Amino acid sequence: MRYFIGNWKMFGVPKSINILNKINYFHSKDKNRQKYKVVITPPYTLIETYAKYFKNKKISIGSQNCYQKDQFSSNTAAVSPFMIKSVGAKYTLIGHSDNRSEGDTNEMLKNKVFFALKNNLKVVFCIGENKIQKKNKKTFNVLKKQLINVLDKKFNQNNIIVAYEPIWSIGTGKIPTKNELKETTIYIKQVLKNIFRKKSPAVLYGGSVDGSNVEMFKEIREIDGFLIGGASKTSKKFIDIIKNYYR
Ligand code: PGA
Repeated sequence: MRYFIGNWKMFGVPKSINILNKINYFHSKDKNRQKYKVVITPPYTLIETYAKYFKNKKISIGSQNCYQKDQFSSNTAAVSPFMIKSVGAKYTLIGHSDNRSEGDTNEMLKNKVFFALKNNLKVVFCIGENKIQKKNKKTFNVLKKQLINVLDKKFNQNNIIVAYEPIWSIGTGKIPTKNELKETTIYIKQVLKNIFRKKSPAVLYGGSVDGSNVEMFKEIREIDGFLIGGASKTSKKFIDIIKNYYR
């Protein structure tokens, strides 16, 4: 199974559901539709209406983050995995570099993953090195720490997906070379196998994915799909990625 996950970030109002309608229509007619899953993570404000609307359709709705506590608490503006699940989300991103840079620590991330799984959300756990770490050849080291400090062998690996998103690639148009990315993905899967003592969860790539560079990514069979930011905000760009992936 491949995944095409659209991360809307701080984008979208109720009528932006038109974008999802077009993606859903494309998916319903696509001869390859059994081979992949589409997930969109709109902002919190839209999860409930979108999840209701797409309840019996193939697109799944997720959140972009969640708070590191279970049900209710007295943390102003916090939204827990329990609350997210209660409005129909099936997935949540955790550990996006935007949130790490705003203070998410490994300990917080571990709690987020724990409570998200407890509430039956599928977790898309994001990891990635920054430009300096890459330059200093610390990429593997950084990724390994991000994985082993948060993921625990007791977690249900069937509900975990890892998204490798090099920070220097997010929103920049810069992407890793094919060899680099293949080696890194294999490395991530090896670390995950060691953590879970079984086969690795799915590993996605994210960072400036678009309809033209997906041709290169699709040659790396270890990549199980994509986390797509900018190009998920218009139906055409998002659909082009899927079309070109299966071309
Ligand atoms: P991008 O974002 O596709 O715009 O680079 C990816 C992400 O941050 O998830």
